[in-house]
Parts: sequence; C-alpha cells; structure tokens
Amino acid sequence: GKVRAPTHIISTISDDRGEEPCYAGVPMSTIIEQGYGVGDVISLLWFKRSLPRYCTQFIEICIMLCADHGPCVSGAHNSIVTARAGKDLVSSLVSGLLTIGPRFGGAIDDAARYFKDAYDRGLTPYEFVEGMKKKGIRVPGIGHRIKSRDNRDKRVQLLQKYAHTHFPSVKYMEYAVQVETYTLSKANNLVMNVDGAIGSLFLDLLSGSGMFTKQEIDEIVEIGYLNGLFVLARSIGLIGHTFDQKRLKQPLYRHPWEDVLYTK
Ligand code: ACO
Ligand code: LMR
Repeated sequence: GKVRAPTHIISTISDDRGEEPCYAGVPMSTIIEQGYGVGDVISLLWFKRSLPRYCTQFIEICIMLCADHGPCVSGAHNSIVTARAGKDLVSSLVSGLLTIGPRFGGAIDDAARYFKDAYDRGLTPYEFVEGMKKKGIRVPGIGHRIKSRDNRDKRVQLLQKYAHTHFPSVKYMEYAVQVETYTLSKANNLVMNVDGAIGSLFLDLLSGSGMFTKQEIDEIVEIGYLNGLFVLARSIGLIGHTFDQKRLKQPLYRHPWEDVLYTK
C-alpha cells in the first residue's frame, strides 16, 4: 500500500489544495452561491459543521452587538492611544485586543464554565454565588461599570429576546437570570452583562440545537471557544477607532497631570 511520510502539521478545518478552497468540506462556490453569512463561516471554521439558521443568526447578532461600546472602554482606549502614538493599524488593533480578559470582554468562557457547572450540579443561585464568594472569585458574566438594575444593558435584553423566540430551550440563560436576581439583591450594579448573556445562551445553543454531543460541548467549554466571539467582534470597533484617530489627525496622547494622584 501507500506509505505516507509523517506530517508536521495536522489541520482539519479548511483545504486550499483543490480548484477552490473548502471550509469544513463546503466549497467556496457553495458558500457564496447559497448566500451563507459570517455566522455560517464561523460555524464551519470553528465548529466544523453547518448549524441551523437560528444558530448562525445568533452568532451574527453576538458579533454585531459586541462590535463596539464607545471610546471609553479599555480596548478602544488602548487602540486610540496607540494610533495617536503614530503606530500602524495592526499595532493599534492588537494593543486594544490585549486588554480583553477576565474583567473586560473575556469573561464569556468562564461564565459558560461556571454557569454550566453550577446548573448541572443543581446548585441554587444562593449556593453558587456564596460558594464563589468563599473562593474569592467574582462571578464571571455578572457586574458592569455603567449598567445597573435601573439602566439595564440593552444588548443583554436583545440577546435574551432573540433566544426566547428562537431557541428550543433557554435553561442555562434562565439559571443566569436567577443568579442575577440574587446578585442584584446584594448590589445595584451586579446585573448580567453581555459576557454572561453570551456565555449562558451559547450553552443553550450548544445543548439545545442537537448538533453537538455532550463530549463536544464539554470540549468547547473546556478549551474556551467563546471569548473568540468578543475578540472577533470588538476587532471591528478597534479598527474603526484606529481609522477615526488617523482621519482626525489626532496628536500624541499624554495623560493630564491633574488626573494623576502623585503620592508616596
Ligand atoms: N461577582 C461578585 N461580586 C462582584 C462582582 C461579581 N462579578 N463584580 C463586582 N462585585 C462586587 C465585589 O464585592 C466588589 O468588591 P471587591 O472589589 O472587594 O471584589 C464590589 O462589587 C465592587 O466592585 P467594583 O470593583 O467596584 O466593580 P467594577 O465596577 O470595577 O467592576 C466588573 C466591573 C469588572 C465588570 C466586575 O463586575 C467584574 O469583575 N465582573 C466579572 C467579570 C465580567 O463579567 N467581566 C465582563 C464585563 S462585560 C464586558 O466587558 C463586555
Ligand atoms: C463593553 O462592551 O465594552 C462593555 O460592556 C464594557 C463597558 O464598560 O462598557
């Protein structure tokens, strides 16, 4: 038989060797002619399968909702300062991306991990939240700098409304809402944030769509695919902020002395 020399790289998501590139086996002509969208391409390249329309639309909604949140957030601030230091697009973009993490935008995977574990173990919101407090861990997906009980995050509401209408089950999201009800009884700003909404709803998408085995869901949650949604989405805004600063010919940024407490 054929003897195959061992390869240095294994790749399973796309193939460029034929007449046209294929994403998870689907030729580019099908993707274009059938009117696939960005949500379909993400499904193929990240999850290696075509997902039902309501799932790919949900992915696209996450991307649109998270594309930007103004110039004051960590990521945009870094990109703006970097662009104003005269750096190029890629430097300005990655400077902003590097702020994405457990406090800002990158709490989606941990929200999914902790909500899934708590729900699957049957913990009450009280047991879950107080257990986290004992461990000294803030509940990922809960809390916001400017949003509160009386000034809810519209993006969260839009995601919840979409899922209520289109998802077969929203059990994880409903659990996250119960957690939010409990955390709100402690402080006004402990609302469910966009990371918590995407984290819990993606659990519902994975488990309710019938497209993933239990083992695959555990792997997606364990590896941590979901922060990728925020990274991808916010890149759109960070690129926009970089162009904006360059178009406006903004000079080098220097933080004002008055806004620093110099102390010993
Ligand atoms: N779980 C439990 N208690 C919390 C949480 C939380 N998620 N967030 C705040 N608190 C409580 C704590 O008691 C905290 O006191 P501590 O500093 O002793 O822990 C107190 O509220 C005050 O917190 P602040 O630091 O003033 O809150 P801040 O407004 O700075 O934090 C933040 C906002 C960073 C989002 C915070 O709520 C948090 O860490 N949340 C979890 C991570 C998360 O979900 N990040 C994504 C935010 S959405 C986005 O970036 C797109
Ligand atoms: C964001 O999407 O950047 C935010 O939710 C964070 C913020 O503080 O506005």
